[in-house]
Amino acid sequence: MSKPAVLVARAVFPETLSRLARHFEVEANEDDTVYTPAQLIERLQGKAGAFTTGSERIDAGVLAACPALRVVANMAVGFNNFDVPACTAAGVLCTNTPDVLTETTADFGFALMMAAARRMAESEHFLRRGEWTKWRYDMFTGSDVHGATLGILGMGRIGQAIARRGALGFGMPVIYHKRSRLAPELEAPLGARHVDKATLLREADHLVLVLPYSPAAHHTIGAAELALMKPTATLTNVARGGIVDDAALAAALRERRIAAAALDVFEGEPAVHPDLLSVPNVVLTPHIASATVATRRAMAELAADNLIAALTGGTVKTPINPEVLQRR
Ligand code: GLV
Repeated sequence: MSKPAVLVARAVFPETLSRLARHFEVEANEDDTVYTPAQLIERLQGKAGAFTTGSERIDAGVLAACPALRVVANMAVGFNNFDVPACTAAGVLCTNTPDVLTETTADFGFALMMAAARRMAESEHFLRRGEWTKWRYDMFTGSDVHGATLGILGMGRIGQAIARRGALGFGMPVIYHKRSRLAPELEAPLGARHVDKATLLREADHLVLVLPYSPAAHHTIGAAELALMKPTATLTNVARGGIVDDAALAAALRERRIAAAALDVFEGEPAVHPDLLSVPNVVLTPHIASATVATRRAMAELAADNLIAALTGGTVKTPINPEVLQRR
């Protein structure tokens, strides 16, 4: 029996490709071209599965043009590149890679928050420019992290892991906002207090965004929300570009309406709003919160597990729309 054909839409570890090749006819993309929608459709012809990343949009247009497709396995926890209802309607299973990246992403979110609070990037740039000529009592004074109020918007797995770091490691009171409040047994060990969004914005010393992107979450933080924050507060985004209005944030940073920000994700990335590039009080990183070797390997492995299971009759570990499997 011939092997099913799959597309691996971006470059990936060679061992992931060899593992997939034991089960499938694999079309790889070792040049790591980011396909246009038309190129993606062309590459997906005759493919039963696709190993994707956040850069491949799978929507009704792609689904209609690729009738052989049965599964799309994202190497990411976020899946806003999938139109899940359209995939479900077309009988296409979607999978993602939760859990394996939680702690690594939380480490990075916490590090970014600390970098913003303690002005690490800004002071490093100053040093590299050769401007450090003497010690001064108020040089790059920032704000404390220990004991400060940690605010978390979106309190899923990654949010809780960041809260754990803050509460248990840094003695931070934790407040959070989430549509559905956490169970008391999850809140209690963190001492986490559920508050409404306005209270979160007003009371947090360090606000970290960890909510999934959806059209409803677009510009969750814009000029009005930034105006509620303390002038001494920091804002960290490790969620998705588009959750923050980047132009409004750049203006708030420039006018010191908040103290600092740290961003790993951007509206329209890899492009970055030019105003963010010219304000000093923001730390900017290129969407690398899950980027440790061990975690990226675990993500690739889980995405491959899902693709293999979905097309060979195994148990799919992390389906997004499991109802598709029930219908098969
Ligand atoms: C990265 O942004 C992910 O969703 O895994």
